Order: sequence, then structure tokens, then C-alpha cells
Amino acid sequence: MKDYQSQIKHKELLQFVQEMEQLCTPDKVSWCDGSEEEYQRICEELVQKGTFRRLDPVKWPNSFACFSDPSDVARVEDKTFICSRRKEDAGPTNNWVDPREMKGHMKTLFTGCMKGRTMYVIPFCMGPVGSPIAKIGVQITDSEYVVVNMKIMTRMGLPVIEALGSDGEYIKCLHSVGAPLEPGQTDSKWPCNPTTKYIVHYPEDRAIVSYGSGYGGNALLGKKCLALRIASVMAEEEGWLAEHMLILGVEDPKGQKTYVAAAFPSACGKTNFAMLIPPKEMGGWKVTTVGDDIAWIKPGKDGRLYAINPEYGYFGVAPGTNTKTNPNAMIALSKNSIFTNVGVTDDGDLWWEGMSKEAPTNITNWQGQRHDPNSGKPVAHPNARFTAPASQCPSIDSNWEKPEGVPISAFIFGGRRSTTVPLVFQAFNWNYGVYAASTMGSETTAAAFGEVGKVRRDPFAMLPFCGYHMADYFNHWLQFGRNLQNPPRIFSVNWFRKDENGKFLWPGFSDNMRVLKWIVERSRGKVSAIESPVGWMPKYEDLDWTGLSFSKEEYDRIMEVDREAWKTEIMAHEELFARMYDKLPKEYFFMRELLLSSLWRSPEHWYLEGETH
Ligand code: OXD
Ligand code: MN
Repeated sequence: MKDYQSQIKHKELLQFVQEMEQLCTPDKVSWCDGSEEEYQRICEELVQKGTFRRLDPVKWPNSFACFSDPSDVARVEDKTFICSRRKEDAGPTNNWVDPREMKGHMKTLFTGCMKGRTMYVIPFCMGPVGSPIAKIGVQITDSEYVVVNMKIMTRMGLPVIEALGSDGEYIKCLHSVGAPLEPGQTDSKWPCNPTTKYIVHYPEDRAIVSYGSGYGGNALLGKKCLALRIASVMAEEEGWLAEHMLILGVEDPKGQKTYVAAAFPSACGKTNFAMLIPPKEMGGWKVTTVGDDIAWIKPGKDGRLYAINPEYGYFGVAPGTNTKTNPNAMIALSKNSIFTNVGVTDDGDLWWEGMSKEAPTNITNWQGQRHDPNSGKPVAHPNARFTAPASQCPSIDSNWEKPEGVPISAFIFGGRRSTTVPLVFQAFNWNYGVYAASTMGSETTAAAFGEVGKVRRDPFAMLPFCGYHMADYFNHWLQFGRNLQNPPRIFSVNWFRKDENGKFLWPGFSDNMRVLKWIVERSRGKVSAIESPVGWMPKYEDLDWTGLSFSKEEYDRIMEVDREAWKTEIMAHEELFARMYDKLPKEYFFMRELLLSSLWRSPEHWYLEGETH
């Protein structure tokens, strides 16, 4: 380790680490080299401490379970701040505090906050090391859990230090669980600060400071904080896109591949869609996975858009994942993985809701209690997670680590809507697609906060992740499209429409391939579509129904554009616009009018009389 430290030539980084050491006063400092040996050593330390439970080595090789404090189970949006110099740059959808005031407050919180602990320095790279799209970060943390999760989620350690050289740029990430230890005090198994949590971003400084939480996006700072909130600011300044999108490849039976990127709000099955296995009957179509959560997208020299997945692993929601909903994920997480807040059996097996029909007997729930099926309490926390290496996913795309990324032919946007929004439509043009993505809504589920079933507007699925004014973000997307010679086509999907009895109209999961196939063929200019008031749509016979019995009547229902419901929908857009009126693109008012008038103008039975394109 001494050798490694003496190799660090980056004086400014050394100075930053030294200053943080002086501020946080840890017992010692440890620079992470990212080696397997280091990973195993820290995991073993966590086992000794009681934080990790080593799972059965046959059933779950080299894998661990751990359980968080009940106060520390999810992202804390109300404690997330964008501290830009000017309030109007953070915009109305972000919490803002003057950065000078926040820095003062953070200084107080961080003074001595690592007492009795080790301060780890994690150099990490978002994206393949050396990729022109990748960015380097350095996270300082006092959490061993963070170190080992970062090893799975990012490329980290020595290769990153080498890439940084003596003056490379990096994003500063400071993190503490906010639980200093007095001499002789025994540590808790999940140290965190039960009352004080802050997730702070300083966009102009390209810096992140996180205090009090050890969980997920609050603590693994490469993910939501860097790759979305800070990166979105950099992307706007530098002319690219940092998006809350999965990336997948669709290969047809002849071997031709088309890549698409898709944005869905949290809890809409992004990981499942990214790893989709097409129905057997659809003969020869294949889906490959580049990423399941985040896409960084840049224009290439040929005028097309190229995307990388900045992450190296999956931090996926465990409940609901099983061999039917996502067989690829089940294989990806079958070894070398970390499970947080799932249930464990006495013999080192795992379980979560939906993994199989019934919970095994003798299972302990995520809160360490014997599970009582009559208690109504779940075995796993609804936001329980697996951290698994992306390379273990059977559907991983052969180009997923290509430094220049993969070419994107289509963008897909979708939310969870039980009414109004049809199964699929294509936006008439780029600007209208951007409008549709901006006004996208999703119904809250039990896992998300707020009233269950209420439509929450979540523009581009970026509401909690955009590091600047949301309307500036819309303007960036519009401007970005103006500069593209051959922009990707934009589509809206909704897998969640229900009938009047609350039953899902669409089977979902692998059958989503039928919609994806049409999207890909449409992007290749191969199939026709009919003009509906809200966008171009496939006719019944345009979708591949091989192996699924889905009648024309069922199709008409799921594709229905109910004029009254759409008028209400369009009025609801106003609510979002009113919040950001000051910077809203003027085009949006015209587009809204256009949409309204096309609802009025189009023939009642447009799907019979409308024009094909
Ligand atoms: C996630 C999220 O965890 O979007 O990916 O909340
Ligand atoms: Mn996400």
C-alpha cells in the first residue's frame, strides 16, 4: 500500500485528502487500490463486525447480506440540495441553500465526524477508463460498505489513479456516515446518523458532500449524485446528455443490431426491460444489455449519438425480481454480490417478496426478526437491493465497454399510467418528443413516497436527478436536437394501463419485445404507422403477435386515445409548466395548443380513417 501511495503524483488530490483528514480526524487513512485482495479483506472485516453475513458458499458464492438501520433505507429527496451560486440555476424542483451557508454548515458537521474510523480514499471512474465520455471522481468515505459497493458499481483504484496522472480533472466526493466513535465505544452494525442527513451538490465546484446516510444513492456517490446531478450540469455546459436511461441492443434474426435508450421513473421495471428475454415464438430476436439505469450520450463525428453506461454494476431493487420477471438479473446476482435489506435463512440462503411464491420457513426478516407470515410485515424491505457486477449478466452486450459507446437510434419514455396513455406511440418530431418526455407522469407506488396511485410528473424521469433548472434542461434537449443531422426517433410507452376492474391490459415483461420490435423497425424506416391525435401508432397488424393471443379488441382498448381523458391530461401539463414558467421553452405553449387542436380536429375514428406514414 505504501508503494501505491508513493505513486500518486496528483499534488492537488494529495492536498485535498490531507485537508479532509485534518477536518474529519479519522484514526487512519487508507487509499483503495481496487484489488480483489482489498475487497476480500474489507468484506471479511465487515463479517467480523457483524455488518455482513457471509451467505452459503454453494448457493450464493462469495456473496454477503447486510441490514441497514431502519432510518436509512432509501434516497432522501427532501435532504438533497443543489447549492448552485444562484438560486434560479437550481430551479423550482430542487432544494436550494446558498453554497456559502451550506459549506459553513457542512464544515461544522464534518469536523471530527470520522473519529475512531478509517478514512478511505476511493479513486473511481464512471465509464470505461480512458473513454472520451468517462469522468473520474474521488470519493472520501468512512464506510467500508461504501468501499466494497463502489468496487462493484464503478471501475476503481489503481488504474484510475494512473489515468488521473499529475493533473487530471476529477469530481470531489466527500461522504461520512456521521457517526464518530469515542474511545472504547462499540460501533453499530450499520453506522449512520439517524436524525441528520444531507446530500449536497455544488455544481460550479463539481463537488458532492454527503452526510449521515450509508445507503445506496445517498452514499455511493458515483451513481445518482455524480453520474446524474453533477453530470447533467456538465452535459449542459459541454453539449452532451447525462440521462436516467437504460441502454439496450436489439438484434434481429439476421444479426443486425439497433441500440435504444429508455427513461422510466424509479420503480417502473427498468432493470427488467434492460435485460428482457423475447418470447421464444418471436424466433431469432435478441436483446442485449449495455446499462440498466444511466446513460451518458455524446454526438459522434458521424452525426449520430453514442452512449456509454457509466456504471460497472447493478444496484437493483430485489423484491419482485425472479426467474420469470428477470432471469438474466437472477444469474447476474447469483454470485459475487451484496444484498441489502433482504431476508436470510439460518443456513445462509436468501429470500425476498416475489422471489418465489412462499417465503422459506425459518427466515429472518431485514430487521433481524423471525418472519411471521401473519404479521403483515414483509421479509425484505420494499427498497431492498442487490449489488451485482454487470459483467455477470448473461445478456451483457459485447460492446458495453467500448470507449466510444454504442450508436443510439431511438429514445423511449414511459411511466406507470393506469389510464389515458396508450401502449405505444411515436412522437411526430424531435420537439414534440421532448415535450412528451417533459410532461411524462407516473403513478406513485407503495415503494415511492406520496399518495399511492397519484400521477407525479417526472420529466424525463429526471425530476430527482437533474442538477439544474428543469426548464433549462428542456431547452438543452431542444437545442441539442437542432444540432443533430439524424436525431434518434422518440417513442412513448406505457406497460401499465388497466381496465375498469383494475386489471393490467398488457402482459408486460417479455411481451414488451413486441412493442420494442416495432420501435426498432420504425427507427430503421421499415414499417408504417397511422397518425393518431397524440402521435404515430402501429396498426394491430403491425405488431408481431406470434405466440400471444391478444385480440384486436384488446388492442383497440390499450391503444385508445380518449379525448376527454387527454384534455384533462393536457390541462395537467399546465400545473408543471406553471412551476417553471420563467424559463419554460416558448415552443411548449404552441405544442400544447397543437395537441389540443389535433384532439379536436382528428376524425372520431382516426384509427380507421387516419393517414399512414
Ligand atoms: C434508482 C432510482 O435507485 O432511480 O435507480 O431510484
Ligand atoms: Mn434509477
